[in-house]
Amino acid sequence: MESASPGKPEALGRASDPGRTDDAAPRMLQLLNSFLTVQALHVAAGLGIADLLADGPVSVEDVAAVTGAHRPSLYRLLRMLAGAGVFTEEADGRFALTALGGTLRSEGPASVRDWALYVGAPETWEVWGRLHDTVMTGEPGFLLARGMPMWDYLAEKPELRAPFDRWMTRQSDQHNAAIVAGYDFSRFRTVADIGGGQGSTLAAILRANPSLRGILLDMPQVVAHHAPLEADGLAQRCEVVGGDMLLRVPPGADAYLVKRVLMDWGDEQATRILRNCAEALTADGRLLVVEMVLLPDNEPSPARAFDLLMLLMHRGARVRTEAEFRDLFAAAGLLLTRVIPTASPNSIIEGVPG
Ligand SMILES: C[S@@+](CC[C@H](N)C(=O)[O-])C[C@H]1O[C@@H](n2cnc3c(N)ncnc32)[C@H](O)[C@@H]1O
Repeated sequence: MESASPGKPEALGRASDPGRTDDAAPRMLQLLNSFLTVQALHVAAGLGIADLLADGPVSVEDVAAVTGAHRPSLYRLLRMLAGAGVFTEEADGRFALTALGGTLRSEGPASVRDWALYVGAPETWEVWGRLHDTVMTGEPGFLLARGMPMWDYLAEKPELRAPFDRWMTRQSDQHNAAIVAGYDFSRFRTVADIGGGQGSTLAAILRANPSLRGILLDMPQVVAHHAPLEADGLAQRCEVVGGDMLLRVPPGADAYLVKRVLMDWGDEQATRILRNCAEALTADGRLLVVEMVLLPDNEPSPARAFDLLMLLMHRGARVRTEAEFRDLFAAAGLLLTRVIPTASPNSIIEGVPG
């Protein structure tokens, strides 16, 4: 078979877009220019503009005075974001927050500000710019751009680690109700959350199940902050452990929860994490992996976008299909028993000692 000439890739199949073709170029340009939107949102989030507008419309002069920004340039940023539905420009020239823009506030259940801070930061922006190299070599853009794995880099950069960890907590807050409603945790005595961040999900499970005890394991610098477990006396029912899940996990639980962790790792390390949990699990215990499952259809889904993000972030990292989880469980000595969809992007994938 003749190979395609360099620079002129062959079409790999029929164009799947059933829509009109006459506006294809403007639609594609809109996709291409979304880089501007991401950076504009990152800058607005960093300047705390949504917090400044929280109590009502504010003039550009006042926003510039508080943030120290260059007023004419700030105006052009706000005007562009008003076009994207983030702010409105009032008749008197002041800017007001929309419901969409409200998600850039620091607080509130719908806040996504920390993700805006993380994805647009110069250190990560450069990572996304290495996608070509990643696609050509399979090496994660993070390693190529920063010269070390993401977890090592974050350990050295507390100013980047902080919004990442806060976003993990916030995102968990936004998914917890669906996870607590999606599985009966009351049958367990102790739930251990492995790579559980600052304890948001464990706190929600303990709060909903007053007889349960909990163990939180994450890296020492992460569990040093575990505010979600400090409320409502939950700390008295919980042990907080700083450690390395690739080496060992604390024994003594009859449920091991591994939420949005395996997607960060290649099969070898993911199997090691699962095996460590399997060895610590009581005979009647359950292993519960909570994360997105890639469906074998071609529908748009956050799982597909996340999979590309994982490709960029960590070597071997991926969003997996149910079949891939089944193989991973088997390699770790576990039998996959159920996949339970939840009212969040995550499913609960249950396993028992095999
Ligand atoms: C994507 S976050 C998920 C956090 C949390 N489970 C959640 O759903 O929000 C992955 C977590 O794994 C932790 N982690 C990475 N390497 C680890 C290791 N070797 N031992 C323990 N935790 C680790 C990170 O610090 C981070 O909190």
